Amino acid sequence: MSLFLWLASQLSSCWSNISILGVFLTVFTLLLDFMMRRKNWSHYPPGPVSLPFIGTMLYIDFRNPHLSFNKLRKKFGNIFHLQNCWTNVVVLNGYKTVKEALVQRSEDCADRPYFPAYEHLGYGNKSEGIVVARYGHIWKEQRKFTLSTLRNFGMGKKSLEERVAEEAGFLCSAINSEKGRPFDLRFLVNNAVCNVICTTVFGDRFNYGDEAFKKLLQLFENSLNEEAGFLPQLLNAVPILLRIPGVPQKAFRGQKAFMDFIDVLIDKHKETWNPAYTRDFTDAFLKEMEKGKAAEENGFNYNNLRLVTADLFAAGSDTTSTTLRWGILYMLLHPEVQSKVQAEIDKVIGRERSPTMKDQVSMPYTNAVIHEVQRFGDIVPIGLPHRTYRDTMLQGFLIPKGTTLITNLSSVLKDETVWEKPNQFYPEHFLDANGQFVKPEAFLPFSAGRRVCLGEQLARMELFIFFTTLLQKFTFVLPEDQPRPRQDGRFALIKSPHPYLVQAVPR
Ligand code: HEM
Repeated sequence: MSLFLWLASQLSSCWSNISILGVFLTVFTLLLDFMMRRKNWSHYPPGPVSLPFIGTMLYIDFRNPHLSFNKLRKKFGNIFHLQNCWTNVVVLNGYKTVKEALVQRSEDCADRPYFPAYEHLGYGNKSEGIVVARYGHIWKEQRKFTLSTLRNFGMGKKSLEERVAEEAGFLCSAINSEKGRPFDLRFLVNNAVCNVICTTVFGDRFNYGDEAFKKLLQLFENSLNEEAGFLPQLLNAVPILLRIPGVPQKAFRGQKAFMDFIDVLIDKHKETWNPAYTRDFTDAFLKEMEKGKAAEENGFNYNNLRLVTADLFAAGSDTTSTTLRWGILYMLLHPEVQSKVQAEIDKVIGRERSPTMKDQVSMPYTNAVIHEVQRFGDIVPIGLPHRTYRDTMLQGFLIPKGTTLITNLSSVLKDETVWEKPNQFYPEHFLDANGQFVKPEAFLPFSAGRRVCLGEQLARMELFIFFTTLLQKFTFVLPEDQPRPRQDGRFALIKSPHPYLVQAVPR
């Protein structure tokens, strides 16, 4: 009996010790969380109440963040803070605020947040690609090299323009073979635009209908879908979760498969490499890698070649092809605009000759329509995240070093203080009273400042040549049995149209 009483007393003291330990641990964790979330800066932007551990993540619909930001903006103004777990985030809205950050405080805002979730793809020391590379000498070297190499392969020059024109011709033949039947032009347009990057980076293009290419597109789409949503935000904010075996592999399966595909392309390319003859971007990079230690220090290593080429694919294909798909969708919805563009094409270029960039100056209406497609289509609505490189002031608020900045580009492209009809498709936004082309400063679909889109020049060339060639050869109409296409988009890093069918009537 006494043994039993002794055991019971030991158990109860042990239990009370566990309870005390539990209470202590809970209080300690809450305190730690409070300290991590605490912001004791004065003049920090306002924002919603931050909850323990998750911060303000519940306020954001990560599948439609720009819509959540617009709601919060109404309450807190053009600049407000959020908190992804313990990561401080500041959202910038409206032309004035975004311009101040990107242009006036360009270097202060030029850094990128670190993305631990990409480590399983090879992202790390001296290999961060370009798009998510942190601001510093490696990013500068890589950006300089990429811009000048693309330029040497014709970016901004005639030869690449000719390649784009040639690809536009292939695209028209493929559309012709649809014989006026209703079809979804997504696959063909993606193929055409991706071929421009493929020829520049790997010196080769894919035939329309190529199975390997279909696979690449599918992998790429999957990897974009994986980027959107709550989970990737959580994994980047609490990287320790990535240490749970199998989590990164499961969460980013599509990205891994996409990188495997890039590896195959690079390996194939290396087999035929001849250092005496530079065929394309990959050759130029391999040549740079040969230069030894100094080049290695500047990010010219094999791992980074994979990441930089993947970046060019990722940033350079879906963006342009999605814009073109918005363009055709708006032509379906506004046939009178389509007719006016075609009348200008007929007058300036005619029906036979291929459009060239020289034609652009004589085609203010077409140019205005393409710009309006970009403004209203608003395909990168929340830009890419930046991070403050040092403490800075924006609109009188203090933004400490290391804060993640979201540039709400959508709020700039639809800023009510700048655009006459921000929420309507209205090409006249880009025309003056004499019908001449004008570009308001708030036209920032490519962002601005040090991290401005590296491919802006190429993208603008592609948009003009593809769009004018398509409308020169076809009139796009909505098939009779089809519903009117939706104007809202689907968001997965970029905002793309919901699938729609179209009939291309040869002209
Ligand atoms: C209509 C087409 C395009 C749009 C709307 C677009 C838009 C953007 C935007 C908004 C950014 C983020 C800038 C920032 O961080 O503030 C960006 C970055 C970037 N874009 Fe584009 N882009 C397009 C086409 C292209 C093309 C064709 C290429 C490739 C040749 C490209 C390569 C890049 C790269 C490498 C970056 C990262 C720049 C850096 O961080 O330094 N983009 N783009």
